[in-house]
Amino acid sequence: MRFGSILFAAATATLCYLQGAVASPVSLEARAASTDKVLIGYFPNWLYGRYTPSMIDFGKYTHVYYAFAIQNSPTTPIWQDNGIFDTYVQYGFPKLVELAHAAGTKVLVSVGGWSGSTHFSPMAASASNRAAFIKWNVDFIKQWNTDGVDIDWEYPTGKGPGCNIIADDDVANLQVLIKELRASLTTNFPSNYKEISMAVHIDPWGGPKPVSSGVAGFVPYMDRFHVMAFDVNGAWNSTSGPNAPFNNQPGFGYPLGFVQGVQSWIDAGVPANKIAGGIAFYGRAQTLTVTADPTTQYNSAVSPAPPLGDSLDGPWQNQFCSSDISAASGVWRWTNMRSQGLLTSPTTAAAPWVRHYDNITQTPWLYNPTNKQFISYDDPISLGVKTDFAVSKGLAGLFVWSIEQDNGELLKAIHPVVASNPPKTPIVSGTASATATATTTGGGGGSSTVIPTGTPGCGGATAWATGTAYQAGAQVSYNGKLYTAQWWSQGETPSAANAWGAWKYVKDC
Ligand SMILES: *[C@@H]1O[C@H](CO)[C@@H](O)[C@H](O)[C@H]1NC(C)=O
Ligand SMILES: *[C@@H]1O[C@H](CO)[C@@H](O)[C@H](O)[C@H]1NC(C)=O
Repeated sequence: MRFGSILFAAATATLCYLQGAVASPVSLEARAASTDKVLIGYFPNWLYGRYTPSMIDFGKYTHVYYAFAIQNSPTTPIWQDNGIFDTYVQYGFPKLVELAHAAGTKVLVSVGGWSGSTHFSPMAASASNRAAFIKWNVDFIKQWNTDGVDIDWEYPTGKGPGCNIIADDDVANLQVLIKELRASLTTNFPSNYKEISMAVHIDPWGGPKPVSSGVAGFVPYMDRFHVMAFDVNGAWNSTSGPNAPFNNQPGFGYPLGFVQGVQSWIDAGVPANKIAGGIAFYGRAQTLTVTADPTTQYNSAVSPAPPLGDSLDGPWQNQFCSSDISAASGVWRWTNMRSQGLLTSPTTAAAPWVRHYDNITQTPWLYNPTNKQFISYDDPISLGVKTDFAVSKGLAGLFVWSIEQDNGELLKAIHPVVASNPPKTPIVSGTASATATATTTGGGGGSSTVIPTGTPGCGGATAWATGTAYQAGAQVSYNGKLYTAQWWSQGETPSAANAWGAWKYVKDC
């Protein structure tokens, strides 16, 4: 695999511009035991009006990951454009959280990415830097009522774009960071569980071997490892090959595919139910130097420069790494393969393109004999194979780079991975806003407001009322039980059984 990555895949013309506490694994296991599967969509924060949060099919995604806050400082993450926090812009982060939570979809900020990982190493290496990083994340979660932290360090001990600081003890330091982060999340959100996930190289950790021995130590503190089983072969190699093979073909291409990548993390000590498999909603083009042998994806190809991909492709310069520059990425987003005349149906190529299907790597590929271009990609057939595997192996689920690259056909193909989940319910998103006050707002329509009275023995706490907005710390009685508000809420019925809710059960009255 090229140390290629999810952010590199986004290269387009338009883009060109408390620590100290020891976390208890028990607290992690104590969270509501959930067998729910995940379907996670990464959502780039540089799309603006081209693809706004309102276009996301939230009903199908269990999580949306907002990518990226970049770790190009040794202390706290950085946002490249604070305009995304404008409450009124339709592309903004507040709008995303509002729409996602209304649909019961969790939102996590992803820190890092291909061009946003230059200073993870010095951050993780210093206790005070880690504390600053953790505080930033905790404060962000409190402010926006988000649901956890995703770390996309590309890569500990292994250089991504070539400008990242790396150190031999990156993995060990990352493990300390994760433990401290878990402890802080538990302390700050004792009854509102926050997730920790990491996007990881298909081969643990992608750097010099052996480092995989450090993997098991992460497991008690982590919700998921997201195995990036894409960007596996591409124009960085002088032989063409599949972008996201299901199985690798021994002796051809990079030696790991989706199956082997998942297995390598299981072998390193991660249980299957903490692994999400990576899905690409894009393909990669290469120009062959020979006429393609139609029986194989592995043909001699121009390297390292790929041809221009879809209509959004163009020159790209990593602004944080001058040597990381390319005239084109060769990326073809699925939605553009469908709209720009390459595929007239999900499985029908338009001439001069010819479609092939490789039943070892379980991936389709297109070849254009007039310009010798080859495109490896995924379609509903190949994604169905990966989805079936994820279900049969009991993986946590699947994650996708990236939401906007699909026209709905691919999401439909992978959605069965969450078919066994119960229906999602809205996530109550009180952000402790300054305007919320614990006053009765009334039921509207001019009806008189019933002043609730408390339950005897509940220390004078008034009875919970549906129309009342409650601040964190407020106490109410409800059905003979006393509850304390963990954060702002309105209209959320107190329930001792709801470990995820705003109301924390205190005692029977
Ligand atoms: C490059 O391609 C060749 C031939 O398919 C393969 O054997 C090799 O592993 C590839 N190298 C990398 C780094 O992927
Ligand atoms: C793969 O495809 C070839 C050619 O269509 C077919 O003969 C072969 O049986 C297939 N192999 C598998 C494992 O499906």
